[in-house]
Amino acid sequence: MRLNRDAIDSSPFRQFEQWFQAATDAGINEPNAMCLSTVSREGKPSSRMVLLKIWDEQGFVFFTNFGSRKAAEIAGNRQVALLFYWEPMQRQVRIEGTPSKISIAESATYFATRPRGSQLGAWCSAQSTTISSRSILESKLSEIKQKFLNQQVPLPSFWGGYRVTPDRFEFWQQGADRLHDRIEYANSPQIGWTTQQLAP
Ligand SMILES: Cc1cc2nc3c(=O)[nH]c(=O)nc-3n(C[C@H](O)[C@H](O)[C@H](O)COP(=O)(O)O)c2cc1C
Repeated sequence: MRLNRDAIDSSPFRQFEQWFQAATDAGINEPNAMCLSTVSREGKPSSRMVLLKIWDEQGFVFFTNFGSRKAAEIAGNRQVALLFYWEPMQRQVRIEGTPSKISIAESATYFATRPRGSQLGAWCSAQSTTISSRSILESKLSEIKQKFLNQQVPLPSFWGGYRVTPDRFEFWQQGADRLHDRIEYANSPQIGWTTQQLAP
């Protein structure tokens, strides 16, 4: 499969949609799993997987705990990178951009769609803090189950979504003899999205 500048969509969002759909159609397990890299105030990078839950031309949304390490790093340095790797398609997509918290109303709408177990789990874990043992989580879960017995589980104030507004995309398609195709889209406020081909 080749990727060339004449054949790609002028919008990186539509290009992403085509590839995301192809990865979904290929039956890839969790094609929405992406590596999120953040950078601390001191310039130290860290990466972890998160799930892409909402995306459109406004950006790419994942959900997490606002007390987590990733959230602390985002608060100190608003530059992040996202990375998808779809091995059966021999493709990767790199996205760089700026995250912002989505509204409480939007987070609440998504939270309400989660299975009850995941909703309760969100309440139980002060993500990224140290715990002495797993039993702490289990007793917290029993306490929370009791607290919300016979009622809807509300959105915790410490949990919600970030929307990453992209300023750069790169679509990478594996090629023969390591001559991979790489198309970069960069956004500038004056001219919008432009594309470049990069050497592999
Ligand atoms: C496939 C996969 C998907 C994940 N999705 C999420 C997610 O959507 N949100 C989240 O907070 N953590 C998710 N995690 C857990 C994170 O990788 C990570 O352990 C956690 O968010 C704590 O990261 P931090 O200490 O850097 O903040 C996922 C892990 C895997 C392996």
